Amino acid sequence: MKLNLARRDKVIEKTKIEESLKIIEQNPDIISLGAGEPDFPAPKNVVKSAEKFLEKGYTHYSPPQGRHELREALVKKLKKENKIDVDPENIIITCGSKEAILLSVLTTVNPKEEVLIQNPGYVAYRPIVEMLDAIPKYIPLREEDKFEIHPEILKKTITKKTKLLILNTPSNPTGTVLSKKTLEEIADIAIQNNLTIMADEAYEKLIYDNEKHISIASLNGMEDRVITVQSFSKSYAMCGFRIGYAVANERVIKEMTEFKLCTTLAAPTFGQLAAIEALKHSSDYVKKMIKEYDRRRNMMVMRLNEIPGFSCTTPKGAFYTFPNIKEFKISSDKLSDLLLKKSKVMTIPGTEFGKYGEGYLRLSYATAYKKIETALNRIEGYVTKLFK
Ligand SMILES: Cc1ncc(COP(=O)(O)O)c(C=O)c1O
Repeated sequence: MKLNLARRDKVIEKTKIEESLKIIEQNPDIISLGAGEPDFPAPKNVVKSAEKFLEKGYTHYSPPQGRHELREALVKKLKKENKIDVDPENIIITCGSKEAILLSVLTTVNPKEEVLIQNPGYVAYRPIVEMLDAIPKYIPLREEDKFEIHPEILKKTITKKTKLLILNTPSNPTGTVLSKKTLEEIADIAIQNNLTIMADEAYEKLIYDNEKHISIASLNGMEDRVITVQSFSKSYAMCGFRIGYAVANERVIKEMTEFKLCTTLAAPTFGQLAAIEALKHSSDYVKKMIKEYDRRRNMMVMRLNEIPGFSCTTPKGAFYTFPNIKEFKISSDKLSDLLLKKSKVMTIPGTEFGKYGEGYLRLSYATAYKKIETALNRIEGYVTKLFK
């Protein structure tokens, strides 16, 4: 018997990443520069804390809005690190920041209303918006603007139906950190057009070259207009703990909590408690990780610029480079395929992140330094022949 599936499944397109992962499974000598998660293990003290809480019997549900002691600890963190002044009632703990993104759109956007998304941008935004029968509208990003949002381009994409702007800084896939000036301009445009902003700050701690991460919610007049989404996944290498959170006006958080009752009910209890340990005692670990990412980033950018056909600006955040490959005069999809088959290196075509990613590849440096070196040598060996 053939089951009839809901039409909604069309929202999920087959991704190149899935295809490549299958090829990697059969070819263990392929080096993946596709990783979207830290290669570091979670900090030891955090793992120990999780073990301790599991042994003590913290194996039950938590309140849907999240454990009070974690929300209290986050109030302090948000004030100190993000200049966001809130109460525990303004925070909901979610299963990763991915769930916070879903709950934010559920809470703020009606069917047929429009949501603005950076393009190239994180792969999950479009399907989430379409799943909820809302309409994604894209803000094209350009290399000449360092992949920042250009205020004039943003203004042009706004219509009467635009409800929500999804902002991602530092950005996946470009590694761009939005400057204070850009954020201020975006804030003004949001106020003029009565837009809500969801600020996805999953990579907030992964910042280099003395650059500063600024939360748009900390700017004047933005407190009630912004839902800030953050995560323990990338900042503390805790992806598998599935702990993220959203920070917003109390009414928004109440509504998100209602929806959470119908989705995952609560984030993992032991993970929430271990997250408090991460906030309190893992800053040295985080510093070490950032130092190593920085070392890899510098090497990757330098090497890419030595390889024929590649030109790479230096990203200031996250753990991705986004080199321009237009000199190859083939699509990024085709080049990524060739690199996988001929150099045995997995990269992600820029078009996975939207049509304005054409002409670029995403390379992750959340992989050991030596492996990155070998991967880039292999790429160089292959593409040098192409230019002869
Ligand atoms: C920009 C961005 N936001 C959110 C997430 C979701 O992360 P998590 O659900 O683990 O917090 C990711 C994961 O790759 C991401 O790249």
